[in-house]
Amino acid sequence: MGSGARETITRREWLLSARRRLSERGISAAHLVAQVLLAHVVEVPRERLLAHDELALSEVQRNEAEALLERRLNGTPLAYLVEAVEFYGHRLRVTPEVLIPRNETEHLVEFVLSQRPAEEERGEWTLLDIGTGSGCLPIAIGLSDPGMRAIAVDVSDTALTVAADNVFLHGLDERVGLVHGDGFDALLQAAYEPESEAATACMRVMGTHDLRGMVDVIVSNPPYVDPADAVSLRPEVLAEPSVALFAGEPGEGGSAVQRLLIDEARRWLRPGGWLVLELGLGQAPALAEWAASLPGWRSEPEIRKDLAGIERVFALERRDGP
Ligand SMILES: C[S@@+](CC[C@H](N)C(=O)[O-])C[C@H]1O[C@@H](n2cnc3c(N)ncnc32)[C@H](O)[C@@H]1O
Repeated sequence: MGSGARETITRREWLLSARRRLSERGISAAHLVAQVLLAHVVEVPRERLLAHDELALSEVQRNEAEALLERRLNGTPLAYLVEAVEFYGHRLRVTPEVLIPRNETEHLVEFVLSQRPAEEERGEWTLLDIGTGSGCLPIAIGLSDPGMRAIAVDVSDTALTVAADNVFLHGLDERVGLVHGDGFDALLQAAYEPESEAATACMRVMGTHDLRGMVDVIVSNPPYVDPADAVSLRPEVLAEPSVALFAGEPGEGGSAVQRLLIDEARRWLRPGGWLVLELGLGQAPALAEWAASLPGWRSEPEIRKDLAGIERVFALERRDGP
């Protein structure tokens, strides 16, 4: 063996060393992170990795594992390294182009599924997702309810490429249409320009290019972090796209996009339809006041807390009339 060659190392030895380096950097669940990275590199499920941890790593595997570990130590989120995350029990592809779906966003799925009409009256119903990112919301909802048809909008075309992969992987391309553009403006374009790409997507999935006044549920996990709070975010969070995180001007509280959605959603919902938004800590009272100042919404919002006790789901019902 030449003097430059490294000694072989077993999976077990690599895991122990990686776990130590991750712990020293203060990364939580270090043993799990090491296992997920190595399982990704050697392309076996985590359980099988542990059952055969005496096997030696090839030079290529070792280099790849080291490169991934280095990136994790430098703050890249684990989900981006393995390009996968689980959301509502479904595996999704994620890249640095999209926000990594969070557990708390699963509360939006639960709320939407709980608000559907009774099964016998349900049949097909329509969902709009504004700011779809990986496509996690229409995918989780659509896999639970075969009657759902959705249009998912995002201002980031690179995010939509990832969403398209996920929609295809889960066999939902017939029922989820993807539209590129800025919030409801993208859908206005569909309404006014029947030849546009947005109109074609709406036509294909919903059977009409003008969705005004006909949508059953609008769901959105919009960007809602105040840019002034960027300094206190962990490097893992700052590795996610800024357009997915920050809203409004520094010091405004991060609610700019949520306010716009509460104002504009009224034109797209049918009477009795719901707008279901995700919120951050402490945002609910001001948004409830904002909704009460606008015509079109029925009484108080429905609010659901997440497991940490934060008011996370904010839902408004469209009433009859303007
Ligand atoms: C917080 S992420 C949520 C992604 C996904 N729905 C989730 O829950 O993981 C917000 C998403 O909204 C998109 N976005 C931001 N501003 C937008 C706008 N004006 N119109 C459409 N999408 C927008 C971002 O690109 C990003 O994908």
